[in-house]
Order: sequence, then C-alpha cells, then structure tokens
Amino acid sequence: MAKIVKLISKNFGNITPGSVEDYVKAGGYAGLRKAMQMDPQKIIEEVKKSNLMGRGGAGYPTGVKWEQAYANPNKPEYVVCNGDEGEPGTYKDRFILSKDPLRLIEGMTIAAYVFKIKEGYIYVRGEYLGLQDIINGAIKNAEKANYLGDNILGSDFSFHIQVVWGAGAYVCGENTALLESIEGKSGRPRKKPPYLTHVGLHQAPTLLQNVETYSNISYIVEHGGEEYASYGTKYSGGTKLVCLSGNVVNRGVYEIPFGTPIREILYEIGGGIPNGRKLKFVQLGGSSGACFKDDKLDTPMCYKALRDNRLKLGSGALLVVDDSNCVIDFLKCITEFFIHESCGKCTPCREGNTRIYETIDKFSKGEAKLEDLSTLSRLSEVMKNASFCGLGQAATTALTDCMKYMKDEFLEHIDGHCRAGVCSMFSEEE
Ligand SMILES: Cc1cc2nc3c(=O)[nH]c(=O)nc-3n(C[C@H](O)[C@H](O)[C@H](O)COP(=O)(O)O)c2cc1C
Ligand code: SF4
Repeated sequence: MAKIVKLISKNFGNITPGSVEDYVKAGGYAGLRKAMQMDPQKIIEEVKKSNLMGRGGAGYPTGVKWEQAYANPNKPEYVVCNGDEGEPGTYKDRFILSKDPLRLIEGMTIAAYVFKIKEGYIYVRGEYLGLQDIINGAIKNAEKANYLGDNILGSDFSFHIQVVWGAGAYVCGENTALLESIEGKSGRPRKKPPYLTHVGLHQAPTLLQNVETYSNISYIVEHGGEEYASYGTKYSGGTKLVCLSGNVVNRGVYEIPFGTPIREILYEIGGGIPNGRKLKFVQLGGSSGACFKDDKLDTPMCYKALRDNRLKLGSGALLVVDDSNCVIDFLKCITEFFIHESCGKCTPCREGNTRIYETIDKFSKGEAKLEDLSTLSRLSEVMKNASFCGLGQAATTALTDCMKYMKDEFLEHIDGHCRAGVCSMFSEEE
C-alpha cells in the first residue's frame, strides 16, 4: 500500500501560514536553534548524510554543493531561493510558499548561518503574486520574533531576506537566468562554468537552491541526516513532493518516500484514471520530461532507478494522459509552450521549436509524409545537442519519446486517421 508521509508537509492546512507562534508550537525553529549550536561543517556533514538531492529538477546532491561552496576560499555571499516554478504541472513550491513559508525561511536561515551570509533572496514567479501578503508577512513575523534580521536569537549572526517577483518567464527558473533577472536584466542564461558557487549574483559566490530543497534542511538538522535518508532509498534520501495532474482521480500534491513505485502513486494515491478510460501514457517531470507507457509504471521513484529506465524525476510532476487524448495534439500544445518560452538567445531553440511545431502541425492536418518523421528526429537531435541551456536541450524530450513509443499514431495521422478521434484538425467543424 502506497504511503503518504508528512515530513515537510506536516503543517499544510494545520497552522496559520506565516504565524511564528503556530509554527513554533508545531516544532518549528528547533532546527535553527540546534544549528546555531553546531559547527557549520558538522551541518554540512548532516546534509551530506541525508542524501538530499536538489528538488528543482537537476537533482544535484545538496551536501556536495554545500561542501564545494565551503571549500572555496571565497565563501557564498548570497543565499538565493528558486521559487520560479514555471514547469507545467508543477505546483509543489506554491504549496510550501502558501501553506508553510516559515519552513522555507528557516531552511534558508540555516544555510546563511553555515556560510555566515547576510543577504538572501526568494525569487517567486510572477503568477504567484497572490502569495505576496503571506510571504512578506512570514518574513516580517520571523523578524519580529528575532528568528530573522539583526542579531538572530541574540547572537552576532544577522540575515535578511528580500522577495523578488519574476515576470512570468519559464527560463528564469534556470539558475543563471534567475540571477540576471534579480540583477534587473532580461532573463537569459549565462554560460556555465563558472558555477554559481564561484560566480553568482553580482559576480559573487552564491548558494542557490529550490524551495523544496531548503524546506528539508530544518528537519535534517533537527533529526540528523541518517534519519532523514532512511525514509528513502540508498540513492535518494528522504521524501519528495509529487504533483499529480491530468486524467487522474485525486489530483494534488503528495509527499511520498523515495522508492514508491509510480504505479502506486497513480493508482493508490491518485485513485487511477476516471470515467473508465485507459492509460495512454505518463509524463514525468513537467513539459520537458520523459513520456512512457504502462510498462515502466513499476519503476520506483528514485533517482537511480529512474535513470536506469532512461527517465528523470525533474520537478516531480506526474501528468497522466488517458486514451481520449491525441498524442499529436499533446505535442503541439507542448511545442507551443516552448516557442512562447524560448528566450531567443540561441538559434537551435529559437528556430527549432517553431520548425518542429510546423512539422507536427502537418500531421494533424493530414498533410504529413513519412520523411517528416525523420525531419522531427533531426531537429530534436540538433536542439538537444546544440541549444545553449536546458530549456532548448529538453524541449523535445516528449516528442522523441512519443515518436519512439507511439509511432503507430504518427503513421495513422499520415493515413488521415486520428485514433482518439479528437485531433483538432480532424474534428467535424474543420
Ligand atoms: C529551463 C529551466 C527551468 C528551470 N526551472 C526551475 C524552477 O522553476 N525551479 C527550480 O528550483 N529549478 C529550476 N531549474 C533548475 C535550476 O537551474 C537549478 O538547477 C535549481 O534551482 C538548483 O536548485 P536545487 O539544487 O535545489 O534543485 C530550471 C532549469 C532550467 C534549465
Ligand atoms: S536554449 Fe537558447 S533560446 Fe532557448 S531558452 Fe535557452 S538560451 Fe534561450
């Protein structure tokens, strides 16, 4: 039976978001209090033991990042939190920001304590502007209670947080584009290396993590890295917030222990596919994530097991697609998103997405020929290998997978037939 656990989601719906009184009553700030009695290197050791991988998508080990940053003679000068959350189907960071923002603030404060950092930023996507009062209120309350601001808990450690609102560009979730945006420039990615822990915000070393990543830190410090790790698998410590959306009964955000098979998440936690329909495919990790069919559903949610099956966890979004959907329509929708979000800095992504859309469109108009399949493969390959940043590199992951696992549907469209019977260009009105 699939389990839902409540390590970082335990306060969701149970406390007034941003109330220090409620948060402390529920055990909050025990992590920071403990951290401030610890040697910073010991904190890093616990984060390493926890096996916490960055929850923003790339899955880089957080403890290793902190260790590398600490080893740099120029220590980070800024703590930055990535709350851009532009990946379609992903809304876990919104849950943290809206239901328990102090958990994030506490995690960032512990990180600042480790590196003796005075300034922090929370970068939030523009579409979440409705959360302004909650986030600003939480910061003010933490300052008033002396958990944030000058001389935290009577010590000589001071740390301030500012909130920066994005303007709604998906690419600003890419960590260097995010820094450009905080600096007031247009959000376009920088060349890497140098990595942020060496050259980051205002050219200074910077520690940047995702909202969910920071939100795990207080638990790890309070309970120890090993205890946190024990919730997950050998390769993936702790828990993960997953977002279920699409054709599934129980859509929502759930905290699961790493190692839970995808099938259990879909059918036990998610309640399966509604209206007696059949599963067509699942997309994992948002619009830039892989698509797969029923045969991979027993893969455990674990970075290694997923990698062994040529899948990536990404942001933890699970989009369920039933057999009433047309795969060509789905891909057109995804490609439109990437055309809209491409920042235009490099040619493969700026031009490639549009060429791909035009080619897919031919399938839905019944005008495609067999050679259009190889055009799509070639364009995908060029974009994957030559795009400047992760946006263009991953934009055709879904296309590549759908061509691999559902090639028959592309061929049916060449013959003028849509199996789902819903393809926009084949509908009666057209
Ligand atoms: C196009 C693109 C969009 C991204 N969007 C986000 C995002 O919305 N939130 C996020 O935390 N990371 C996002 N990332 C990953 C970040 O670049 C970075 O790896 C992450 O914020 C690091 O934090 P973590 O180690 O805690 O995951 C994105 C990457 C790319 C290439
Ligand atoms: S791949 Fe190129 S055009 Fe696309 S978002 Fe990244 S830098 Fe911009």
